[in-house]
Amino acid sequence: MNVLLFGANGQLGSDIVRLWNDPAVTLTGVTRSHCDVTDTEAVERVIAASHPDAVVNTTAFHNLPLCETDPETCFLVNVAGGRNIAAAAARYGASIVQFSTDYVFDGEKRTPYLESDARHSLNVYGAMKIATEDVVRQANPDALIVRVSGLYGLAGSAGKGGNFVETMLRLAREGGPVRVVADQVTAPTNTAEIAEALLPVVKHGARGVIHLAAAEGTNWHDFAAAIFSIAGLQPDLQPVTTADFGGPVQRPLYSVLGSTAVPPLRHWRAGLERYMAEKHGFGT
Ligand SMILES: NC(=O)c1ccc[n+]([C@@H]2O[C@H](COP(=O)([O-])OP(=O)(O)OC[C@H]3O[C@@H](n4cnc5c(N)ncnc54)[C@H](OP(=O)(O)O)[C@@H]3O)[C@@H](O)[C@H]2O)c1
Repeated sequence: MNVLLFGANGQLGSDIVRLWNDPAVTLTGVTRSHCDVTDTEAVERVIAASHPDAVVNTTAFHNLPLCETDPETCFLVNVAGGRNIAAAAARYGASIVQFSTDYVFDGEKRTPYLESDARHSLNVYGAMKIATEDVVRQANPDALIVRVSGLYGLAGSAGKGGNFVETMLRLAREGGPVRVVADQVTAPTNTAEIAEALLPVVKHGARGVIHLAAAEGTNWHDFAAAIFSIAGLQPDLQPVTTADFGGPVQRPLYSVLGSTAVPPLRHWRAGLERYMAEKHGFGT
């Protein structure tokens, strides 16, 4: 099976490259320097040249404050880019695997969101990802939408300036109080766990929508506390509310993802321990 991967140097994309060691799968990674997904003709050329059976799109413009101030770029990369890839894949007979987000939901629910739950986003990024899901499916009926949440991976996200775990470790080392929101519950997920769970799903040719996120939710304050506990650090960690924290972006207060389609990933703490061991050698 030939798989073409867009976003190969992102945190999720690079874990797919690192962990898909399957003799039945030939994976070709594409980075932004090779092909800008907003360039319709460049996307077409790359897909035409590689004869893929499946195309995986992990690219995104997902710096949330920037999405609020620059919705045009948010639209171009996520919606137009996603459509470019899905449509070109369809023209060359390939299926499309498009990544999406827990932020397609508004957080009004208090039990895990399932694939069948109605989408209603609170911010520009989430709205653009809802549109991405829809145009991808319109352009290529052979589509799998994979919603994930709270990603952190070894490579970090260039577009977001790293990841939450590394930000917490840096703030702890800097010595001041570390203020973290305690009223937003989600499921922070190690991208390695997603990459591994995705491989059999893609090989099996799954279609529709699936949620791949760590089992159980936690709030960002308690997630930070777990990071510091594993790292043996004791900063002045202070819980704050979303209202205290302020900022231009409205976020769902609850966005844990559950699934009726695929088995749950491991507990968020297991994914975090794995990351802390692989990235920093803690606990090894
Ligand atoms: N991070 C999260 O917390 C989170 C949560 C829920 C859902 N998601 C979704 O999960 C997926 C993977 O996220 P991630 O955290 O792995 O993202 P990431 O690390 O930021 O990687 C995104 C990739 O997209 C590439 N890219 C951006 N604009 C591009 C363009 N115009 N043309 C070509 N490539 C472009 C980036 O290239 P450069 O490195 O060159 O910039 C990067 O390789 C995305 O669909 C995202 O929306 C993420």
